[in-house]
Amino acid sequence: MREYNLEEIAKAELEVLKSENRMWKEHVLHGAVNNWTIVDGKKELMLCTNDYLGLANNPEIKTEALNALKEYGAGSGAVRVIAGTMKLHIELERELAKYKNAEAAVTFQSGFATNFGVIPTMVGENDLLVSDELNHGSIIDGMRMSKAERKVYRHNDIESLKAILEDSGKYRRVLIVTDAVFSMEGDIAPLPEIVRLAKKFDAMTYVDDAHGEGVLGKLGRGAVNHFGLEGQVDVEMGTFSKAFGSVGGYVVGGEKFCEMLKNKVRPYLLSGSHPPAVVGANIAAIRYVQKHPELFERLWSSTKYFKEKIKGAGLDIGKSETPITPIMVGDSAKAQRLADELFEEGIFVIPIVYPMVPKDKARIRTIINARHTKEDLDFAVRKIVEIASKLGIVPKR
Ligand SMILES: Cc1ncc(COP(=O)(O)O)c(C=O)c1O
Repeated sequence: MREYNLEEIAKAELEVLKSENRMWKEHVLHGAVNNWTIVDGKKELMLCTNDYLGLANNPEIKTEALNALKEYGAGSGAVRVIAGTMKLHIELERELAKYKNAEAAVTFQSGFATNFGVIPTMVGENDLLVSDELNHGSIIDGMRMSKAERKVYRHNDIESLKAILEDSGKYRRVLIVTDAVFSMEGDIAPLPEIVRLAKKFDAMTYVDDAHGEGVLGKLGRGAVNHFGLEGQVDVEMGTFSKAFGSVGGYVVGGEKFCEMLKNKVRPYLLSGSHPPAVVGANIAAIRYVQKHPELFERLWSSTKYFKEKIKGAGLDIGKSETPITPIMVGDSAKAQRLADELFEEGIFVIPIVYPMVPKDKARIRTIINARHTKEDLDFAVRKIVEIASKLGIVPKR
């Protein structure tokens, strides 16, 4: 018999999610994102936001967002190609291209919409998509939207990538897609080797720099700048939802490529454009980071300090090289308990457990930002080590 009662269907789906430990507990912030924020009514040290530079509640950026709202209104009124392109949207794309030393830029509603919409415009039938096994879900979904064949290489494994490329002769186009910074691991893709292989095998490259923009490179220009590869990667994709403190996705690349995207990407053509306040905030964020090099010094010195203390206590941070610092636990129940007890003690971190990671690879994920003080970090390390020791996660010496 056909199922038609939606509430019954949803109830059964929820039972499955519960039994597979896939239910999310949504915590509620009672105010702006700051270092310390009231979460579910409790004052918490925020060690899990992507607000790397502390711009989400920055007064200068808020003022610019308000100015844009006052001048241009609450909404844009349409999709970009109908009547939803305001002078502000163009100004943002111009600022972005200049900041990223690129020919052109296109913005989208979110990073998700960017990957989802752009990847299928680049490759289709008779083409090949080659993807790192730990790429973000939005890349995976973007690849699913394409008619190209898909092959996955082992995480950051150049030999595994090479083996796929060696066997790619029959395809019309080949596109290699990788995260620059992996969001669960905090490690960085070996972009110079990937670019070298791409050139050797006539492949194109697409780098998702969601966690590298505003973090790596000169004045936060991202992973491609960090490796000195500007002009050698075909597409750099990024988001305003992390270091830049607001929301919105983008790509930078060649002029013709960007013009093609504005005529082909479905989220661009079919979904409303950013409201003026968002665009105003994003323009202000790009200008702000270029005037404040101290933000990056703070971000990286705090990251280094925290990592050293955590490693010094005997905890395992995997291969992390960035402010994303996982603390490996192994057992999912233990990782959950560590996160819960930290929350009780005033530290908000996210447990990453099965099925997000393999059963024996559960962890908590911490993210350092430029506004954390030494006191914040010392408090976090003390509590993490204390509770991890109690739970038997810190190895006995
Ligand atoms: C690697 C990566 N790409 C893309 C996205 C999507 O970005 P957005 O939040 O702007 O949709 C994320 C967000 O979690 C991400 O981590």
